[in-house]
Amino acid sequence: MLLRYHRNLRLSSIFIDEIMKLMKRYVIVIGVFFLFYLFVSNKNRLFPRLVFGEFHLLSAESNRTINIRQSQLYQHESSNGGIITLYDVTQDNEWDFQCPKTKYNEEDIHDVKICIYDPQHDEHVSGQLNDHGKWEPVVVRSFLRLLRTLPNTHVIDIGANLGLYTLLATQYDRHVIAVEPLYDSLIRLHKSIQLNDVQHHVTLVANAIGIKHERLSLNIVDKNLGASYLSYLDELAPPVKKIENIVDQQHGFPPRVLAEVDTITLDDLVSIFPIFFKRAILKIDIEGFEALAFSNASLLFNRTEIPAIYMEFGKLIEMKYYRGMQQKIEDMLTFLKKRNYEPFEVNDINHILYDNWESWPWDVAFRRCDICRCPEMEKLVGSAE
Ligand SMILES: *[C@@H]1O[C@H](CO)[C@@H](O)[C@H](O)[C@H]1NC(C)=O
Ligand SMILES: *[C@@H]1O[C@H](CO)[C@@H](O)[C@H](O)[C@H]1NC(C)=O
Ligand SMILES: *[C@@H]1O[C@H](CO)[C@@H](O)[C@H](O)[C@H]1NC(C)=O
Repeated sequence: MLLRYHRNLRLSSIFIDEIMKLMKRYVIVIGVFFLFYLFVSNKNRLFPRLVFGEFHLLSAESNRTINIRQSQLYQHESSNGGIITLYDVTQDNEWDFQCPKTKYNEEDIHDVKICIYDPQHDEHVSGQLNDHGKWEPVVVRSFLRLLRTLPNTHVIDIGANLGLYTLLATQYDRHVIAVEPLYDSLIRLHKSIQLNDVQHHVTLVANAIGIKHERLSLNIVDKNLGASYLSYLDELAPPVKKIENIVDQQHGFPPRVLAEVDTITLDDLVSIFPIFFKRAILKIDIEGFEALAFSNASLLFNRTEIPAIYMEFGKLIEMKYYRGMQQKIEDMLTFLKKRNYEPFEVNDINHILYDNWESWPWDVAFRRCDICRCPEMEKLVGSAE
């Protein structure tokens, strides 16, 4: 009896020893499983993702909703509380687009492949790129010339559209923060980034630039998708300019409100700048919203040295009769003037005057002459005759 008891005890102690041995052997495996479990159960907190829900977007071929893979979008909260939506350009993109090569023929860089819309649906930018391999050649040339002469200078491309400036800038090995709210354009830019193999040169932000953190609708302009604009501008418009009264003269389409976008401010962008991103050329083309966007840009300008700004100015002049817009334009110009910017035509020759902004050309370039060589200032145009 005693013997049996003893034997049982020995057996069970052997059993326990065996279990201990096994546990020791598998402790790493168990630990890994435990960490994996922690990771999976906290994934959303550790790596927050923003899902937009259904987007109704104009596609080149048809009127269909485009669903983007959720994992392609990441959320980042800025120090001002803005939610920045980042689009992961390293993932695969199986879309099949028409992607002609540009024809700028610059001496020191290669032309890039750029994925466009069906030119029938986007006559201006896509049409020109398809037919001639060029869009805004004068602005592009000036932009590239400046980039070439300024080392360690990166690019902020606000209203990137199909990413022409973004893609060309990567050829100089610069980093680009590209901001574009329209999904149809984002997926094309994603494809172009892959075709040119510049995934590591571009941070793609899927937001519109506004003055608050809010969700606004975007008016899609048929036949000229790059001219899509935040519907908020219509609220400031005098009655004749309101959306229902605007009919494209050539085609008879009014703009359509199709997509909703989350806005962030220019200042929010500072939160996602890589460490080396200290100096950048700013290209901004947001269809009239520029004047508003600059009311939230002082952090950006405090933290980043911006030698030059390329801006489409023509829309602003057209909008000067919109409610409060004249004041906003003047506020923006005061902001720039205070920070030592001088306005020029983009031909890199003609200096223009702040006071004459109502007769400025469609595109302008502001330069900080203290940190970037300016064209000769004597060549004034647009002065009071
Ligand atoms: C596109 O979709 C909208 C909203 O669903 C619809 O009202 C419109 O008729 C459609 N247009 C075409 C051309 O199918
Ligand atoms: C943007 O600027 C306006 C005017 O200065 C201010 O009222 C608003 O709060 C700012 N927005 C954000 C998100 O900081
Ligand atoms: C930017 O710098 C100016 C002058 O130093 C300062 O008055 C302003 O508060 C700064 N703005 C921000 C948002 O940091």
